[in-house]
Formats: sequence, C-alpha cells, structure tokens
Amino acid sequence: MSNYHIKHLEEYWQVYRNSVRNPENFWEEIAEEHFLWRKKWTNVLSWDFAKPEVKWFEGAELNITENCIDRHLATRGDKTAILFEPNNPDEETLHITYKELHERVSKFANVLKSQGVEKGDRVCIYLPMIPELAVSVLACARIGAVHSVVFAGFSSTALATRINDCDCKMVICTDGSYRGNKTIDLKGIVDEALKSCEGVSTVLVAKRINSEIVMQDGRDKWLQPLLDKADTVCKATIVKAEDPLFILYTSGSTGKPKGMVHTTAGYMVYTAYTFKNVFQYRESDVYWCTADIGWITGHSYIVYGPLANGATTVMFEGVPSYPDYGRFWEIVEKHKVTQFYTAPTAIRALAKENLDYVNKYDLSSLKVLGTVGEPINEEAWHWYNDNVGKKNSPIVDTWWQTETGGIMISPIPYSTPTIPTYATLPLPGIQPALMDENGNEIKGNQVEGRLCIKFPWPSMARTIYGNHGRYRDTYFSAYKNNYFTGDGALRDAVGYYRITGRVDDVIIVSGHNLGTAPIEDAINEHPAVAESAIVGFPHDIKGNALCGYITLKETGEGRNHDNLSKEINQLITDRIGPIAKLDSVQFTNGLPKTRSGKIMRRILRKIASKDISNLGDTSTLLNPEVVNELIEQAGL
Ligand code: PRX
Repeated sequence: MSNYHIKHLEEYWQVYRNSVRNPENFWEEIAEEHFLWRKKWTNVLSWDFAKPEVKWFEGAELNITENCIDRHLATRGDKTAILFEPNNPDEETLHITYKELHERVSKFANVLKSQGVEKGDRVCIYLPMIPELAVSVLACARIGAVHSVVFAGFSSTALATRINDCDCKMVICTDGSYRGNKTIDLKGIVDEALKSCEGVSTVLVAKRINSEIVMQDGRDKWLQPLLDKADTVCKATIVKAEDPLFILYTSGSTGKPKGMVHTTAGYMVYTAYTFKNVFQYRESDVYWCTADIGWITGHSYIVYGPLANGATTVMFEGVPSYPDYGRFWEIVEKHKVTQFYTAPTAIRALAKENLDYVNKYDLSSLKVLGTVGEPINEEAWHWYNDNVGKKNSPIVDTWWQTETGGIMISPIPYSTPTIPTYATLPLPGIQPALMDENGNEIKGNQVEGRLCIKFPWPSMARTIYGNHGRYRDTYFSAYKNNYFTGDGALRDAVGYYRITGRVDDVIIVSGHNLGTAPIEDAINEHPAVAESAIVGFPHDIKGNALCGYITLKETGEGRNHDNLSKEINQLITDRIGPIAKLDSVQFTNGLPKTRSGKIMRRILRKIASKDISNLGDTSTLLNPEVVNELIEQAGL
C-alpha cells in the first residue's frame, strides 16, 4: 500500500484511517519521501486552535520552486511544464518545458532582486492568464518574496485596497489584457489604483496587447528589457517551513477582504498530495484547470500542485465562449487533455448552448472531470457526465476554500463511487464534523449541520494578514476547538458529504465569493441612497444572482429607477468589479428589521427567490408592513 497514491476504495479507507489515527506519522512519511528539503524538520506538528496557532514541519528549510522545477530537470527537463493556450486560437500555443520554466523563473527572480525586492517583501501581481503570471508567482517564491495575486477583473478600488492592506512595494501588470473579442486597459486600472497606494515604488509592465499606455517616470518599467539583461541562474533562497508563501484575498461577510496567509512547507505537501490523488495524475497526462491563477484554485491546482508533481499544466488565457462555445472542447481535443477541472457556472453556461459544440470534438482523451467553487446542481452534473465524460470519466466534485489551501472533500476517481451533488468523502488527513446551532457535534449519519474541521491539515491558512484577531473570530470562535468553514453540509447514510451552501452573508455568484457588506457600502455611496441590503437568489447560469433592496433619501425620490439602477451598478463596478453587479433592484420604502435594528435578510432572500410560501417567524419584526409592501411590489 502506498500512502502517496491511492488506487482503489479499500486502499482509501486504509489510508484514511491511518491518517486519522496517526496524522503526524502519516504526513511525515509523505513529506520525507516525495519532496526536496534543505533541512529536515524537528517537529511535524504543533497546534492550538484556541490561539489559534498551527505549525507544520517546524525547523525544516526548503524552497518550493526547487520542488516545483529544479528537481525535475534531470528527468523531465524537456517535458512541457506549462502549456499556454492564448485567447485567440490563431495565435500559437506555447509549450514551456521544465528547463525553459527554470530559466524564465530564474531571470524573473533576478529582475525582482535588481528592483530591490527582498525576502519577505510583498509583491502584488495583477496579470491576465499569460505565462508571466505563473512565472512571476514562482519568481517571488524563488527569492522568498510573498506574492499577492489580485484577479485581473477587480476594479482599481479593489486593487488599491489589496495593495495597501499588505503593503506591497511592487506591482506587476501588463499594458492590457484580452478577454474574448474585447481588450481591457489593465495599466489604466493600475494607474488609478496607485493614486492611493504610496508604498508602491515600482511597477513592472509586461507587453501583451501593444496598446499605447502612459509610463510614469521612475516608477514604471517595461519588463522585457529587464529580463533580457537578467542572468539565467538564480540560486533559490532557502526559507523556513512556516515562512509565508503568499497572501490571497477572499471576501468576508463583513468589512474589508481578508488576506489569507499561506505558508510554505505544509501548503506544498498538501497541494501536491491532493493533486496526485484527486486527479490521479500519471506521467504522460495533460492536465487542465480552467480557473484563473487570481483565485486559490489556480494557485494550488494550476501552479503549485501540478508542478510539484512534474505535471504538464494548461494555462488558458481566454473565455469559454470565444470564438464560440466549442472553445473548451477544441482545446481538449487539440492537446489531448486527460484531466479537466472547471466550475459549475461554466458547465451551466455551456449546457445552454447547442450540443454540436461538444459533439464536434474528440474528447476521448479525458479520464477525470472535476468541479469546484459552488454546489453543482444535478442537471449540470448529468450534462457534464453524459456529454463531456460520455459516462466514462468520473466527476470529482471537490469541496474546499481559499482558507483551506487545498481540496478537502472529494471522490478519488476510479475508487470512490460518485453521486451527483455529493462531494463524497474527506481526503486523508481531513477530519470533518457537523455542528448543531448550540455548538455541539452531531454524530452519526443522515444528519445535517454546520461544517467544521476538527484537526489541522498542512495547507490551512495560518492567519489573516495584519489581523490575527479577525482570523480567530471568523474561523475559530463559533465552535470551540474547531475550524468553522461557513458552509452547511449533510452527511448521508454511508457517510458521504453534500455541501448545501453558505450559512453566512457570503454569496457565491458564478463561483466567486462575494461578501454583502462591501457591495452595500458601494451602493450606499450613491447620494440618493439611504440604505440597502443585498441577497442572493437562484440563477440558471450563475448559481446565485444578486438582488438589491434599496431605500432612497428624500432627494432621490421621484428619480427614474432605471437610471438609478444603472448608476448604482456603475458604482459597484468601480468599487469592486463587474462580477458584483446586481441582477435585480427593488426600490422600497423600508427594509424589514428586527427590533434591534438588524435587517432580516432571510425574508428578503425568500422574496427575491419568489418563494413566499413560508416566511418563518416574523413576530420580531419592527415593521411587518414593509414585508407586504415588498411582496406586492414584486408581484407575488
Ligand atoms: O461555499 C463553499 C463553496 O465555495 C466556498 C469557498 O470559496 P473560495 O474561497 O472562493 O474557494 C473556491 C475554490 C476552492 C466554500 O466555502 N464551494 C467550493 N467548492 C464547492 C463549494 N460548494 C459546494 N461544492 C463544492 N464542490
């Protein structure tokens, strides 16, 4: 039996039991046999969820890029590490071998050094899905700098907040980006953001769309001439196991985004291990995850997990609908993709289109299909299974979070029998628990509750950058000695988990986590708005869409509601990004509130979902008449 590579269900159970009985031994063996260490650890794990403090492989020293690149050079130097598929299908595919990746990362790392970036410094990366994105991430890791990748669809305000929150001294961007048949002025967004970021002294600009941009003297530098001059060798900076590797922001239910801090050794071990098992990766496979590296899925399962296994990982710059809805399948055929990992929202969007877009292509190379980001509905699951997998490729419905760093609950393909909508079983080392509202664990099967994790795992985020108290309050205070995920889940008769969705004020729209508070803050900035509340409602493609309930100030009364809605959506786009726009707006005279002044979102959610059959207890409402008014207005 190998703990590292599970090949059938019995083995899974054996490995799982072993991992729970003796977690330290379990992870120690995996770490020892499958990675390159410059110094071994003195202690596998120390932890205290009350503080909270978690340390894995303390005393160890390493560099993650030596594990992701250097150690493959002898055996896989000419193997494609990154297969870059551009937005425009007429542009050439790039095959970057491990040798070439080594050279590119080394040069980029030398550029970072030459620009004054040192170990521990934070570097903001605001790039589209081009090779420079993966290379700059790895270049930071090469010299022990901490990358903070910001998804290049975020607005200038959102970018500025993230740059300032972790004091980045450098931003890496492009002149612009392609998105289907559109271009986006990324450098313009960066310029706008930097008006309020005093700490940034250098902007490195890669050329992508060859647009005319303004370069600020002394601050902005073209990347290519610097790379041309850079040395092709850059000795890896050796870091400690618990040194931070990156910061990645995620939305919370309140306030500003949370900069989740991931550290080096545990993250590396866990993402590599889960990549190997969840995708059953074999040496000649071509693996493709369609996520953006701006999200955790891209960090863990486009860059670090695959490269740590010496895999070929596809990076796709474009969108599923360009030049037509067959693009994904064309790429699968062209590169004989073996594992394909995407989001339910993409599946739903493609399922709406003509099946010819799928059937035109030879998808017989596929062995494993994956989904992530939100619960997958049964219809989408079947469409994926029938038309893409031809009922031959198991679907791994992978549940995890930015905070968990790696996949937590998922089938092992060809081992775990799958059921639509079930993420199925915890991966080795993961100890889930379901809790009731009073904070007690609900034991046994066929139960539903709030999903917690009882025991540390190597890739868990260690803190929120600059705010450890918020980290403790958000994840470790609701259930004593447990990590609380914010999700609800049920466990069926055989112990399979099904994630039922968020139980807090985070709404997942097209697979993106959106906190209600920042959106409401943006809306409330409008001079005509008195107050607002955002809720999610079911949407065919996005999973959830946003509905805003808005009350106006006297000055706003009588104003055209369509115009107001447009202005409000523009504000949201400016402050957060287009992903947070409202699909529906209802202007109202009041919001349903409890006597303590809390908005009862539960009721708004029901109205927005057009389901008012059971509004629950409304006796604590201060203004029950508002509810009737809202129902009437919605025409229900
Ligand atoms: O609610 C869960 C949902 O996405 C949340 C985490 O979002 P984020 O940090 O952006 O990471 C997404 C990619 C890992 C979770 O709390 N979620 C993620 N995967 C699933 C899911 N819900 C149901 N099923 C999933 N497979």
